[in-house]
Amino acid sequence: MKLIIDDAHIDLIKRVYEYYPIDGVTTNPSILAKSDRNPYDVLKEIRAFIGDEAELHVQAVSKDANGMVGEAERIVAELGKNTYVKIPSVPEGFKAMRILKEKGFLLTATAVYTPMQAFVAAKCGASYAAPYINRIDNMGYNGIQVAKNIHDIFKNNGLHTQVLAASFKNSQQLLELCEYGIGASTVAPDVIEGLVKNEAITAAIDDFVKDFEGLTGEGKNMSNC
Ligand code: E4P
Repeated sequence: MKLIIDDAHIDLIKRVYEYYPIDGVTTNPSILAKSDRNPYDVLKEIRAFIGDEAELHVQAVSKDANGMVGEAERIVAELGKNTYVKIPSVPEGFKAMRILKEKGFLLTATAVYTPMQAFVAAKCGASYAAPYINRIDNMGYNGIQVAKNIHDIFKNNGLHTQVLAASFKNSQQLLELCEYGIGASTVAPDVIEGLVKNEAITAAIDDFVKDFEGLTGEGKNMSNC
């Protein structure tokens, strides 16, 4: 499972990249709005930091297919290769996906709440379909189960589209999808960090250090004992 950061805050992105094996960054219009800066200034800063090989996902906001196509052209012209254009999984979006697929764009079908949306987006040529786990839960359905169903639909129909699970509220949800083998998850920095934050782990490491310093002296380690 690819692990992607769902945030546009460059300092947070740098911090998570320093410690974790991260495959890219996703954004959406609401995430970009938090920066209160020109979207392309923010996105170019992210692209410069993550490099050309990492995935960067950027959403189009037009309501009509022609507008989405125009946005996709500018997005990729500004941000280069390995930039995935996020297109909402609605009829105008499906039309845009088919046009853009024909032109060779990389596409992420977003705003996915149902398996059927994901299935149609996959047939339109999307590389990823992004079900919103937490938002589906908040509608009274099971977001994790929806993501698993979409994964199975892709496999059972020979579709090469991957699930890019989004909208997580905790690390356990992420782990469950990782166990299921879905293609990718995009997660807020605090949820990624929550995966390995654990008092038992910290206590075990502290005990090892205490025992070692008891043997060799305070501040000693394997390079200076
Ligand atoms: C991904 O495509 C979505 O934009 C994003 O993950 C939504 O997350 P939220 O429900 O936490 O806003």
